[in-house]
Amino acid sequence: MSRLTLSLVRPSSEEEWSKETADGYRKHAYRTFKLPIFLLVTTATFTCLVGMFIGATYLATPVSSDSCRRFGISTLSSCSTQDTHSHESALEQPHLIFPPSQELLSPQNGFKTFNTERFNGSATGISPYKRPPNHELELLWADYWPITAFSITAKQYHETNPQHQESGVQLHPGSEEPHYIGTFAAMHQMHCLYNLFKATNLEYYEEEKGELERNPGRWHEMVDHCVDILRQKIECDRDTSVITYNWVKHKRGPVANFNVERQCRPWQEMEDWAREHEVKKMPSKPEGVVEMDGFP
Ligand SMILES: *[C@@H]1O[C@H](CO)[C@@H](O)[C@H](O)[C@H]1NC(C)=O
Repeated sequence: MSRLTLSLVRPSSEEEWSKETADGYRKHAYRTFKLPIFLLVTTATFTCLVGMFIGATYLATPVSSDSCRRFGISTLSSCSTQDTHSHESALEQPHLIFPPSQELLSPQNGFKTFNTERFNGSATGISPYKRPPNHELELLWADYWPITAFSITAKQYHETNPQHQESGVQLHPGSEEPHYIGTFAAMHQMHCLYNLFKATNLEYYEEEKGELERNPGRWHEMVDHCVDILRQKIECDRDTSVITYNWVKHKRGPVANFNVERQCRPWQEMEDWAREHEVKKMPSKPEGVVEMDGFP
C-alpha cells in the first residue's frame, strides 16, 4: 500500500512549483496546440481511471498468497506469512509453509529466545562431564532432569498429537478440565546419554555392572534403546552447522574444529517451565481405564 501512495502523492513544494509553471505554459499552448492538449488530457484521464481501478481491486482484496501471486507481488512482507493453514496453498507454495509444531515450548507458542553459544568440542579439552566419574559429575548430570513429570492441559496434550489417546494418563480424571501428565523429550534424551556414559564406565557404576551380569538381555535392551533414540534425534535435527578445519603444528593433514557456534534454545527456560508445572505424585491407576496390551 505504501508503494501505491508513494507514486500518487508528491511533496507539496514540488506540487506548487509544477502548478505555477503549468499555468503559464497552458495559457500559451492552449492557443497553439488545442487538439494535442485535448488528446493528452483525455489519455492522462483514462490512464488515471484504469490505475485507480486496479489499485482499488488490490486494496479491497484481503492479502493472501493467492492475491499476492495474482498481482505478482512476492517481496511484500504481508504476503509471506499468510495461508499457513490452507491446504491448497500449502501444496502450491511449499516454500512458504512451516509445519505445525508438536513441541510445547516452540517459537510458534511464543518461546522465541535463543542464545548464541560456541560448543566445547575439543577432543583433548577438559569438561566436567568427561571421565573419570565422581560424585560432582553425578550431580551435574542429575541437574538435567530435575523433575519426572509435569501437568499439561487437554489442549496442549492434543496439540502434540500423542499416540494411544484412549489410554492417556489423566490427572484428576472425570473433572471438568482434565489435565494429562507428560515429560520433556530433551530430559529423557539426556538421561539416555548418561546411561551410555555409565555403560562405558562400569568399573565405577557397580549397580549397572551387576545388572549386566544378572540380565544381559535387559541391560542391552536399555543401551540399544538409548542409542536408537539418540540416533533418531540427531537425524531429525539434521544439524547443518559447519565444522571447519585448521592447520596444526606437527599434524600433516587438516584438523577438524568442532567448536562451532550455534543458536541454542536456553535449557533453563524449559527447566523453569517444568518445575512450575511439576506433578510431584504420579497418579495411581483408576478402576475401568482403557489399558494397552504391551509397552507403547
Ligand atoms: C563451554 O564451556 C564453558 C566453560 O566451562 C561453559 O561456560 C559453556 O557453557 C560451555 N558451552 C557449552 C555449549 O556447553
